Amino acid sequence: MAEYDLVIRNGTVATAADTAQCDIGVENGVIVALGQKLGAGARDIDAAGKLVLPGAIDSHCHIEQRSSAGVMTADDFYSGTVSAAFGGTTTVIPFAAQHRGQSLRAIVEQYRAAAATKAVIDYAMHLIIADPTEQVLGQELPALIRDGYTSFKVYMTYDLLRLNDRQMLDILALARREGAMVMVHAENHDMIQWLADRLLQRGMTQPRYHAVAHARIAEGEATNRAVALAELIDVPILIVHVSAGEAIEVIRDAQTKGLKIYGETCPQYLFLTADDIGMDLAGTKFCCSPPPRDEAAQEAVWRGLQNGTFQVFSSDHAPYRFDETGKLLKGDKTTFKDTANGVPGIELRAPLLFSEGVGQGRIDLNRFVALTATNHAKIYGLYPQKGTIAVGSDADIAIWDAQHEVTVRAKDLHDNAGYTPYEGRRIKGWPMTVLSRGRVVVEDGRLVAERGSGRFLPCALSDAARPRGRPTPELAFAAAGGAPLT
Ligand code: URP
Ligand code: ZN
Ligand code: ZN
Repeated sequence: MAEYDLVIRNGTVATAADTAQCDIGVENGVIVALGQKLGAGARDIDAAGKLVLPGAIDSHCHIEQRSSAGVMTADDFYSGTVSAAFGGTTTVIPFAAQHRGQSLRAIVEQYRAAAATKAVIDYAMHLIIADPTEQVLGQELPALIRDGYTSFKVYMTYDLLRLNDRQMLDILALARREGAMVMVHAENHDMIQWLADRLLQRGMTQPRYHAVAHARIAEGEATNRAVALAELIDVPILIVHVSAGEAIEVIRDAQTKGLKIYGETCPQYLFLTADDIGMDLAGTKFCCSPPPRDEAAQEAVWRGLQNGTFQVFSSDHAPYRFDETGKLLKGDKTTFKDTANGVPGIELRAPLLFSEGVGQGRIDLNRFVALTATNHAKIYGLYPQKGTIAVGSDADIAIWDAQHEVTVRAKDLHDNAGYTPYEGRRIKGWPMTVLSRGRVVVEDGRLVAERGSGRFLPCALSDAARPRGRPTPELAFAAAGGAPLT
């Protein structure tokens, strides 16, 4: 008679805190025992010689999302989550993206309906707020936060998405009141536009100029401004997809001052440079915002991962096809300004960091788990259900072979982009078996889970999003007068 539904035996189990040799007993999709020589399972998986890690969480990915220019990602919730699972990810947090004039509630319902029939792993959702009307701020957003959409992204650039500082303050004040987490795309819009206009006037239209227009100082300035706005309101924020030293220094200084400012970076800032973009249209495959920079920036990003400036390592998977429905919106007349921004990377995110981070001794295994799984769950209100291996947590587990070597080929990946910026790269270490709530999703290079078997995860309010309770002296003075401004 089996004592457990499933036992994973003899593996090296690592969490963000510890590494131990132990067995894992699972019942009804939940971890119920960690120990030596556990009793029989209805199914046993022998993980001897393997690493048994929490399923990774990708808290920044664009799936079945239409951009503000109307371009649809190549991946829907099926291909996007299948690709994630093959790379050891068992939870994704994509975006329900509002465009101007749209009701947030209606958008959320559309994304939920799309995901429900397709996702093969569990998913939560962030919101993108592009139109913070009175109705959105006064009614829709507070109600959605209570329904488990406790984080949202705002943009400081892009014509149809960007918010001005006053709108940002309104959103930050709302986040403070409601306990939500604000994710900020920080780039100075006018600097980018000014540079782009001059480049285009001079006929410098090729993809490589994307990385000139999106200058580092534009990212640094906007990051500094976002931090100042958050400090005024006394609310935590998370700066997404940080690419270079300018923004990293701002975040680190803010953290040193004791502000709750979190940072995210992505594979493209560790493994690509602006020179990968190149002058011909194939370079659009490498265009994302902020763009990849240079080797010094890569080193700064590694340091930020090592010294704790970054809490999360996400893919920012934004897969646009290399054709007129995506990257080449205007065919061979496409300029760097017309191309859809974003790179695919949901499958390779964790393997790339494992190979070059853990494998090359830049970060240890526990930090790898924190950066790819645990911290995402903590920051976005999914912990401890997700993001760790502990009694009571969902049995979301990836069993890695640290010796398994892979040469990256787009044809072997499971997303629908049709290309990868990492073509030909060698990776050592791969998730061989991936489980979600105790059920096998990927095994022996095959997908086992059924379409639509992933579940929606409402997010709780997280401690990470809780204000410090130390408003600036001016706001404290006003509050002492009996009518707090936030
Ligand atoms: O270029 C990028 N990062 N595209 C995806 C959208 C975004 O801003 O994250
Ligand atoms: Zn962004
Ligand atoms: Zn993004």
